[in-house]
Amino acid sequence: MLRRRHVNVKTVKELDAFPKVPEPYVDKTAVGGTFSIFTILIIVYLIIAETSYYLDSRLQFKFEPDTDFDAKLRINIDVTVAMPCSRIGADILDSTNEPRIHLDSLKEEDTWWELTSEQRAHFEALKSMNSYLREEYHAIHELLWKSNQVTLYGEMPQRSHKPDYAPNACRVYGSLNLNKVAGNFHITAGKSLSVPHGHIHISAFMTDRDYNFTHRINRFSFGGPSPGIVHPLEGDEKIADNNMMLYQYFVEVVPTDIRTLLSASKTYQYSVKDHQRPIDHHKGSHGIPGIFFKYDMSALKIKVTQDRNSIFQFLVKLCATVGGIFVTSGLIKSVVQSSWYVVTCKLIHFGKKTDHGLSVPSQPINYQPPNTINLLDVTAPERIDIMQPQ
Ligand SMILES: *[C@@H]1O[C@H](CO)[C@@H](O)[C@H](O)[C@H]1NC(C)=O
Repeated sequence: MLRRRHVNVKTVKELDAFPKVPEPYVDKTAVGGTFSIFTILIIVYLIIAETSYYLDSRLQFKFEPDTDFDAKLRINIDVTVAMPCSRIGADILDSTNEPRIHLDSLKEEDTWWELTSEQRAHFEALKSMNSYLREEYHAIHELLWKSNQVTLYGEMPQRSHKPDYAPNACRVYGSLNLNKVAGNFHITAGKSLSVPHGHIHISAFMTDRDYNFTHRINRFSFGGPSPGIVHPLEGDEKIADNNMMLYQYFVEVVPTDIRTLLSASKTYQYSVKDHQRPIDHHKGSHGIPGIFFKYDMSALKIKVTQDRNSIFQFLVKLCATVGGIFVTSGLIKSVVQSSWYVVTCKLIHFGKKTDHGLSVPSQPINYQPPNTINLLDVTAPERIDIMQPQ
């Protein structure tokens, strides 16, 4: 049987967890007031701090094995060598030894080694920017990732005027899609020719004395354009003082997935070690003069995620903080206030003798609890006739 319940105001009142203390019982003191001001200041400060912490998200870095084997590795190259294009050959080989069908997209263009003043300014800016980023890696990097700014410096400006001598340099540039395996990109003397087990460079009509592997790296990156990735090789310039120089760059490519609040991208970072030596067969320094970039893929990838609490978590945290501060300051206030009473009490004892010895400073002298009858104030009836029956 269903009994009808009367939920009236009284029942609800019984459940009130916040009983109201009548005003006369509330005792306001200077100590309490001081504490309230401090508490409010601390709470305001914490609210501001928490809010700015919530709005400013953090980056998290995680390492994972890279299982994305089928993906292609895009390499972007723009290197200028101080030799005319007819004398050099650029080539990429990877460890799969697949026929190089993509190489058409790597262009060669005759140019001049000397840069115009605008181009020089651009290159110097790129150089100093990259070295700064390398040193101040973390501080700037995070900012760039969050800002979603892809490049700080755009393309090298076009040459405004052409020198009146024949081009003396070659710009090798382009983007290639490669297999995600180790490989090597190189620029050596002579045109390359494919043979069944690799390729050879034919340099028939030139002598060693024509070699000059002085070079400038404008772009050397992997993957698509992505904010905040530092390409340590960009802005690199090497002046050869010997015809038979061998430059080697050992590049370790690290796949990097970046997921920020604004964008998500899969890209690659790399670190590089470089080495150079002159080739001199008489002195036991063997090899082929040229510029070699040997790259290898890292087995681990870096996952960068931008992390932010939900608004709900933020509110809960805020309430907990404010409530905690409130309760704690109340506790501290009580302790301070009680010890204050103890101290003042003692002082009174030592100072002058009081009649009752006990002072209760928390209550005003003529304090009267409400709704009580002060019996002293009750006047007796003027005449009580006890004989008279009522
Ligand atoms: C190579 O060319 C650069 C730029 O023109 C020059 O400074 C350097 O001396 C040359 N090196 C050699 C070995 O000829």
